Amino acid sequence: MSDALNLRRLNAGDYGALVELWTAAGLPYKPHGRDSRSAFEHQLTLPQIAFFGLFDHDRIIGTSLVTHDGRKGWINRVAVHPDYRRRGLAIRLIRESEQWLVSCGIGIFACLIEGYNDTSRATFKAAGYELFEGVTYFTRRVDPDV
Ligand SMILES: CC(C)(COP(=O)(O)OP(=O)(O)OC[C@H]1O[C@@H](n2cnc3c(N)ncnc32)[C@H](O)[C@@H]1OP(=O)(O)O)[C@@H](O)C(=O)NCCC(=O)NCCS
Repeated sequence: MSDALNLRRLNAGDYGALVELWTAAGLPYKPHGRDSRSAFEHQLTLPQIAFFGLFDHDRIIGTSLVTHDGRKGWINRVAVHPDYRRRGLAIRLIRESEQWLVSCGIGIFACLIEGYNDTSRATFKAAGYELFEGVTYFTRRVDPDV
């Protein structure tokens, strides 16, 4: 691994590598819904969304997807390739994501974590996030693949 990893916003040409990373990281995704190539390309055009990629030379080894609704910021899909874990890279992605949110005028950062994902809980806890007990997540979908 190089000492100098580069972080940049992703572009449409990164889609294939992004999906490979999600797969290698074991992060489920919706290939026919919000994580499809066309959905990704559309999301890249939206001002309230930023995709970040961390690169070792040309190889993408970490990502985050950051969104906001004008009130709160959401840090989603933080993933680090298994070969690069426990080196503080998820924390770096979280901090870069937070900086972008601050630049958008957002001062509250939040993350939804599935109940099984103890690693992700430990990571956000290490990043200083406080568990908010007593919230139940409800959704309704126009289609199960969305
Ligand atoms: C969660 C994930 C992004 C963490 O990436 P990472 O780069 O290894 O995390 P970091 O090195 O920045 O870890 C920072 C701290 O988080 C905690 N942590 C991270 N992984 C941990 C683990 N497996 N067990 C316990 N604590 C862990 C530790 O406190 C760690 O600090 P330390 O290494 O000094 O002990 C990575 O494991 C991953 O890609 N998982 C699969 C994808 C996923 O589930 N993403 C979350 C979606 S919400």
